[in-house]
Amino acid sequence: AQLPALLAAMPKAELHMHIEGSLEPEMIFALAQRNSVTLPYPSVEALRAAYAFTDLQSFLDIYYAGASVLLTEQDFYDMAWAYLQRAAADHVVRAELFFDPQTHTARGVPMQTVILGLSRACRDAQAQLGVSAALILCFLRHLSEDEALQTLQDALPWRDHFIGVGLDSSEVGHPPEKFQRVFARARDMGLHVVAHAGEEAPPEYIRQALDLLKVQRIDHGVQAVRDKGLMQRLARERMPLTVCPLSNQKLQVFPDLRDHPLKALLDAGLCATVNSDDPAYFGGYVNDNLRAMFAASNMDARHAWQLAANSIDASFAPPADKAAWR
Ligand code: HPA
Ligand code: ZN
Repeated sequence: AQLPALLAAMPKAELHMHIEGSLEPEMIFALAQRNSVTLPYPSVEALRAAYAFTDLQSFLDIYYAGASVLLTEQDFYDMAWAYLQRAAADHVVRAELFFDPQTHTARGVPMQTVILGLSRACRDAQAQLGVSAALILCFLRHLSEDEALQTLQDALPWRDHFIGVGLDSSEVGHPPEKFQRVFARARDMGLHVVAHAGEEAPPEYIRQALDLLKVQRIDHGVQAVRDKGLMQRLARERMPLTVCPLSNQKLQVFPDLRDHPLKALLDAGLCATVNSDDPAYFGGYVNDNLRAMFAASNMDARHAWQLAANSIDASFAPPADKAAWR
């Protein structure tokens, strides 16, 4: 009975959320109106009704359409600020936000507009909400490595406004090995490196992310449960997995949360964390994910504390901050 209150109140880090995935339908329509963008949906209700996903790609098609309303620096600021306020309410003390610059630069929105809008919201979050927030630039893996290299190059003038790079979008058919050069360059620049791996694709993608991209965290990683040797390695190396239960449910990776392997991952000694991925599309923010996951499993308060501790340990926050939150 105390568990829901503990889950809500415990200080936590959110390490896997795509800021474009925090755009609620109401904000999509408000921004469309502000920017005179025509949407292929007549109403908020019609848009929400389209959120019936069968797999990752069926989601991505709608997610990229939603992001098309973002044009100005203020749009990016407003989106991130709305999320950060919501995160503060969930007792998130540290948020590391993914953003997809290629989704915007391809539409003619300058890199500077994207980064400065998001970055200003992160700065205000620290000052006004007490939330430590940072940005991770993601490459779209359905595009080429040359385009990823160009994107990193284009972002260099704002190198101090993001802390790392990631890899997202359509996974199957776009393995980590495709991005070895751009990840090597990012590491050389002192950027943190993470990658989505093992969301829908097999455990081999997780091995490649570790061995070829040398990532510091695996985003999702839930397919590791199909590979016993990999599970042992992830536990031994304390390699963080940023797990997103409601995303996995909505994208039919684990259609029933009672079959979700989160408890198995924790009990096997892996550094698993709980995150919202795309909260506006998957039915909830980080505390909603925790609540749903605990309601569907027999995890206890020890699992809750472990998840909170894991999230802070796995964050890229300064060690002094981590010590204060733990
Ligand atoms: N997987 C891959 N790409 C994404 C996701 C995801 O869950 N969310 C936004 N882009
Ligand atoms: Zn994701």
